[in-house]
Amino acid sequence: MKTLKAVILAGGFATRLRPLSCTRPKTLFPILNKPLLQWIFERLAKHKITEAILAVNHQTEIMIKNQKIPNYGVKIKYSRDPPRKPLGTGGPIKKAEKLVGYKEPFLVLNGDIFADVDYTEIVNAHKEKDALATIALCRVKDPSRYGVAELTENNRIKRFIEKPPRGTAPTNLINAGVYVFSPKIFESLPRGKAFSMEREIFPKLAEKGELYGWLFDGLWSDIGKPEDFLEINKVLLTSVSNLPKPRNVKKCKMEEPVACDEGVKIGENSTIGPYTVIGRETVIGKNVRIKDSVIFPETVISDFASIENTIIGEKVFIGKGVKIGKGCIIGDHVKIKDHVSIANNVSICPAKEITENVLEPTCII
Ligand code: GTP
Repeated sequence: MKTLKAVILAGGFATRLRPLSCTRPKTLFPILNKPLLQWIFERLAKHKITEAILAVNHQTEIMIKNQKIPNYGVKIKYSRDPPRKPLGTGGPIKKAEKLVGYKEPFLVLNGDIFADVDYTEIVNAHKEKDALATIALCRVKDPSRYGVAELTENNRIKRFIEKPPRGTAPTNLINAGVYVFSPKIFESLPRGKAFSMEREIFPKLAEKGELYGWLFDGLWSDIGKPEDFLEINKVLLTSVSNLPKPRNVKKCKMEEPVACDEGVKIGENSTIGPYTVIGRETVIGKNVRIKDSVIFPETVISDFASIENTIIGEKVFIGKGVKIGKGCIIGDHVKIKDHVSIANNVSICPAKEITENVLEPTCII
């Protein structure tokens, strides 16, 4: 029986998501209380893709293994970048060559993307064209942050431009971070060195007429930046039905949509939502106000605290009457003392103790 394999790129450093990515790789960020990688495994299983090769670094491998994510029957293998030598977005694909083998086309997925892609269809489209490489493409309003593709009539990509300056992109069709490659691609990839698929390989393949696009219009988001991460949680809050609710909460107000994981406790007169995700075992006191925010597991938010448009990491302690402005990112294990006010756009690195007001946007390291 033919087995389709997928290589998942998961060994980047996620610098744009610091300080939350200091303590977890992007692929383990919770989307609606489920690690992104778990959503990916679920989708792979749905499309009968039986093997995933996780292209990681040592640290990421340990964190993924510790998390014990359900794999829905997908067999997991690890392909590790050499120590202190990240291979970029291309090198890990070459490194996985032997694990992938040469029998069948294979998928490559960016591990930081939520994409409602029908893997079966993109693989079929790839096979029909007998293509060397097929990229899933989706439409966005501002393509300047992404790789942009210009197509000919039969979906061949005639030009691929990575991050064109704003206003210069020839189309708004962007690289969705989901590819199908035929094993022959390995001949075009250098061995043992770091390189970028998007900057070094795709433009050349496009010039040679060997790159195809496959359009889809499902849900798509990368979680590269904090605002993207909040946005995909928000989008899913509005599109997933039967969001889990905490049990035994009385006298608090839920302004939908709100999702709460197992073991969440909320005190009386607190108002939660809209667009709020609360992680497992988080304890929220009385008269708390939280909206437009994502709270990771096992955090404590004390009475009279208020939080808006913010991401709060795991095992954070927020004291009584604390006010957190918009656009803040609070790292894991941070402690904020009672009655402290935090201005808009403040980032706080993991395990910091904040005892005084923070009056300006800053990063506390
Ligand atoms: P930023 O530092 O915020 O730009 O993030 P990043 O470099 O982690 O992510 P980028 O969007 O550039 O990468 C797309 C995907 O490739 C992500 O899923 C990354 O985890 C992965 N990736 C990026 N660089 C490497 C690398 O050197 N090795 C491996 N194995 N994966 C990588």
